[in-house]
Formats: sequence, C-alpha cells, structure tokens
Amino acid sequence: MSGFAAVDVIRTKRDGGVLSDEQIDWVVDAYTRGVVADEQMSALAMAILLRGMRPAEVARWTAAMIASGERLDLSGISRPTVDKHSTGGVGDKITLPLTPLVAACGAAVPQLSGRGLGHTGGTLDKLESIPGWRATLSNDEFVAQLAKLGAVICAAGERLAPADRKLYALRDVTGTVEAIPLIASSIMSKKIAEGTGALVLDVKVGSGAFMKSPEDARELAHTMVELGGAHGVRTVALLTDMSTPLGLAVGNAVEVTESVEVLAGGGPADIVELTLALAREMLDAAGLPDADPARALSDGRAMDVWRAMVAAQGGDPDAPAPVAPEVEIVRADRDGYLAAVDAYGIGLAAWRLGAGRARKEDPVSAAAGVVLRRRPGDRVRAGDALYELRADDAGRIAAARATAEAAVSVSPDPPAVPPLVIGRIG
Ligand code: URA
Repeated sequence: MSGFAAVDVIRTKRDGGVLSDEQIDWVVDAYTRGVVADEQMSALAMAILLRGMRPAEVARWTAAMIASGERLDLSGISRPTVDKHSTGGVGDKITLPLTPLVAACGAAVPQLSGRGLGHTGGTLDKLESIPGWRATLSNDEFVAQLAKLGAVICAAGERLAPADRKLYALRDVTGTVEAIPLIASSIMSKKIAEGTGALVLDVKVGSGAFMKSPEDARELAHTMVELGGAHGVRTVALLTDMSTPLGLAVGNAVEVTESVEVLAGGGPADIVELTLALAREMLDAAGLPDADPARALSDGRAMDVWRAMVAAQGGDPDAPAPVAPEVEIVRADRDGYLAAVDAYGIGLAAWRLGAGRARKEDPVSAAAGVVLRRRPGDRVRAGDALYELRADDAGRIAAARATAEAAVSVSPDPPAVPPLVIGRIG
C-alpha cells in the first residue's frame, strides 16, 4: 500500500470529507509501524473529533485496528464466552463481583482490563492491591484459566490491537479522547480481538464519565452495538448513571473490600443492582437466560469462583486489605439531606490522595481513597460523618479535602435521585 501521504488523509478529514477504505487501512497500519508520525496522527485525531466519521468509516477504522495485532481464539472453550466493558467511571468496581458471578452461572468471562488514568480507576490497579496478585498472563495461561474457572481478569497483551495502544496514549495528551468514533473503535477493536462471543457494554453518563450527556452516550452505545454485530459479537449496551460514584468506596483496596462484601451477599444496594442487571444481560447474550445470578450471589457460588480466580493468579483471597495510615473524617456542618456527591469531584479527590496516576508509569497507592459514609438522599445531622479521606501521606489530605468539599453538598430538601439504569440499546 503506497501512494498515500499522511497530509492528504488529514486534509480530507479536516475539510469534512469521507476517508476511503484504502486511506484508513494505510494510515492505521503506517501509524502502528511508525511511518506516520505522532504529530500527523494527532492532527488526524483532532480532525475526526471535530468532523466526525460516517458509520462505514468507523467500521473500517475498527477493522484496521483489529488487523494491527493478533486475534485470540477462544473457540476451544466449552462454555459460551461473554465479556463486559464499562466506558469508565468513579467507584466502578462492578467487574470484580460480576466476572465470578457470571462464571458461576455457567458462562466464561474473558475480561482483559486496563489501568486507570486521570480521575477514573483501573480494574488492574484495584486487583493489584491484593498481595501476590499478578495481572500479566501469557495467552496460554489466559485460555487455560478461562477453560478451568470460567473467569479471568488480566492485562491485555501487547499484541492485542497495538494500533489502539499507541493511539490511545496519543489521544490522552492531545485532547482527543472524547471523539465518539475513536472511543467506539478503541473499545470494540480490543473486545473483538479478544475473541469473546458476546459483549455487554456499560456506557456511563454524567460528570464522572467521558460522555456527559445522554444523547452522546446513546450515540456511542449505538455505534458500538453496530460494530459488535458487524463482527459477529452479540452486543448490547446499558446506559447507566455516573453523576455520583458507584457504591461507597473509591480507590483500590477499598473497592476490592466493597466487592467482596457484595460477593458475600451484602454491599451497597446500587452495586448489587448494577451487578445483577449486567449479569442478566450477559447471561442472556451468552444464551443462558434461565440462569439465576441473584441466587449465585446469595448462595456463595460467586464467592467460590472469586477466591479461585484470585488464587489462580497468585493472590491471597484471605490477605487483610492494606490500611492507610492517614485517615481524615469529614462531617456535616448542618442538618439536612446529602444532596450532591459529584462523581468527577470525588474521583479527583481519590486521585489527589494517591489512588490514581498522572502519568502511565506512576505507581498508585493500594490503600488511598475516599470512603463515603452516606449516599445522596440520606438524611444527615450536623456532626455526622459524611466521608473519609485515606492516604499514605498526610501531605495529600488538604488538597483532596478541598476538592471533595466542593463536590459534596447538604441541602434542606431531599434531592431527586436519578435512576441507575437509564436505558438499553441492542
Ligand atoms: N476506553 C477505551 O478503551 N478507549 C477509549 O477511547 C475510551 C475508553
């Protein structure tokens, strides 16, 4: 494929044109090989963000990203395979209870996850707070664990959609993450290359999500559902609220602890509700509509799979969670109702406490985070504890406290609490 110039591809999109299949195949491949420079891909990503893409362009772009690397073959797994992907939120630990739960109901869940960047947490960072747990598996280890337990959560290998790995890092520093065609192709290229037979998407909407409006979230969900279908992956999406954090815990170890509470049959009501809603969608998509995930949660079968899954990757499921040496409790200064707990602000506070990273090579603190003591809508009295700030280092608390205080408000009247599941596409 020669005869293309990156600048012509950029100009086509800059001027609102439609990229040809050949242009897309060439530019994605040439960028992966280092022939198209970062500054040229940055300009193209910005042109895509501003001008958009037609469905046929997004489909071709996704196919080119899949073709940039290997595609896993899960056809040897006897159970139906089904995965879940969340577009990212604050306190979103749903993958942790959901993966073993769906496996306990008879499906196999090949969950390739990432690390957090910015205010949203990463599933691998959370699991790495379990002493001994190992995120990196070879392809053979991944397939063997999936066949044996029906559940694996691990890091995506370097050879899976390498074009996306490179492009995502570039988008992150060029203000082009929010382009719907680029988000859709990024997520779906990885999920299709992973080899899952079915996929349930949790598309987040609200201050803590990439998509701030339901309209944008719906467009993203439609785009991804169509891409999945075009590649033979049964795909459905739930649109869910991310204006307030999920559950009470935001951080790494604190989110694992909360997930284990859910697996033990307790935990916050919203985490249980969303875990069960996604589990039902996954089991339907996997062709197991008669499975009963509520029962698998209450009778301990999901917990058994969790323990086996953690142990298979070197983790000790009985190890005590790391404890933060610095804890500050923030209390209500008046009577009223907890009105707003803004997801973005709480995510940022957890990040300031050390739970997240600013650059991808930074370490994260296992113990740091925010633990809410109240949920929006709860009645509070002056002096009641609203939330805890936890950190390894006392120097991090003041800035985190200022950020959290701006995100939390108490009002005289009860607030309207939005529903958790806003819509379904598929
Ligand atoms: N998650 C991804 O994997 N890619 C994006 O572009 C956004 C969120």
